[in-house]
Amino acid sequence: MEKPPVLVLAPLPDFLMEPLRAAHVCHDYFHAEDKNALLTEVGAEIRGIVMAGGSVSPVPLLERLPGLEIISVFGVGYDGVPVDWCQGHGIRVTNTPDVLTEDVADTASALVLMTSRRLIAANRFLHAGAWTRGPFPLAHALRGKRAGIVGLGRIGKAIAHRLEAHGMSVAYHGRARQEVAWEYFESLIELAEAADFLIVACPGGAATKHLINAAVLAALGAKGTLINIARGSVVDEAALIAALQSGVIRGAGLDVFENEPQVPEALMQCENAILLPHLSSGTHETRREMARLVVENLAAHFSGEPLLTPVC
Ligand code: 8YV
Repeated sequence: MEKPPVLVLAPLPDFLMEPLRAAHVCHDYFHAEDKNALLTEVGAEIRGIVMAGGSVSPVPLLERLPGLEIISVFGVGYDGVPVDWCQGHGIRVTNTPDVLTEDVADTASALVLMTSRRLIAANRFLHAGAWTRGPFPLAHALRGKRAGIVGLGRIGKAIAHRLEAHGMSVAYHGRARQEVAWEYFESLIELAEAADFLIVACPGGAATKHLINAAVLAALGAKGTLINIARGSVVDEAALIAALQSGVIRGAGLDVFENEPQVPEALMQCENAILLPHLSSGTHETRREMARLVVENLAAHFSGEPLLTPVC
């Protein structure tokens, strides 16, 4: 069978590129110096797109691919895909849910621990030889504190269970109340007021852009810490930097940023922020499972089988 040509929009690991190349003619849009020339040359023959959770496939690009049938996202978040447009044009979209839930929740709970116990600063303190001159300052306990989860999907729930194991209580905000024992806040501001840790676990995209703004950060207040493992777009980064600099909030633990991989210098200077390079699903085990789903969704589509994990 002829290998269906796909356009690759992101830098992808070898364990994904190898099976992709075995099954497809892969055109590397991400690394192409002249992207326009590449589209002129191969746009008409492209039948699939492979992209990462953090990458984008804007409509003007998709319009250059008249034979496009499927977009396979290497990630659970598909906010970079114009899903309504795809639906309107009969283009299928797949993502990689579930397989990364536990790793992402582990990272969120690690950020809660690292920020509350100041573990990174403590590690630096010891490496600098400061322990011989006195003890590391006391930090804050998790026990008895409240986690406010913004977006109680599969990842939000996995985070909630972990934080309960640390003795924290859990409340949440989302589009609707769910059949769960945790307290629901219809108002995000009221959740922020009540929370010691405000944990962002909702999808990115236009509907949640800058949901966490200066008012929400002010409500979280000086006893509060913001954790974000979702998408940088959900947080107004300029407002967050101002809140960290002025002590409006106590701290932040962030795995995602508005303009990755660029992180503002002012944020990097914030001693009360723990910053990770978007690694929450970044384990050998999980990324291989994600890669398998990307490849198997494409294979299912091109052999007329049902998709494994369809978005639309
Ligand atoms: C990945 C992600 O880092 O799942 C997502 O939506 O953003 C992450 O798991 C990314 O897709 C891999 O590059």
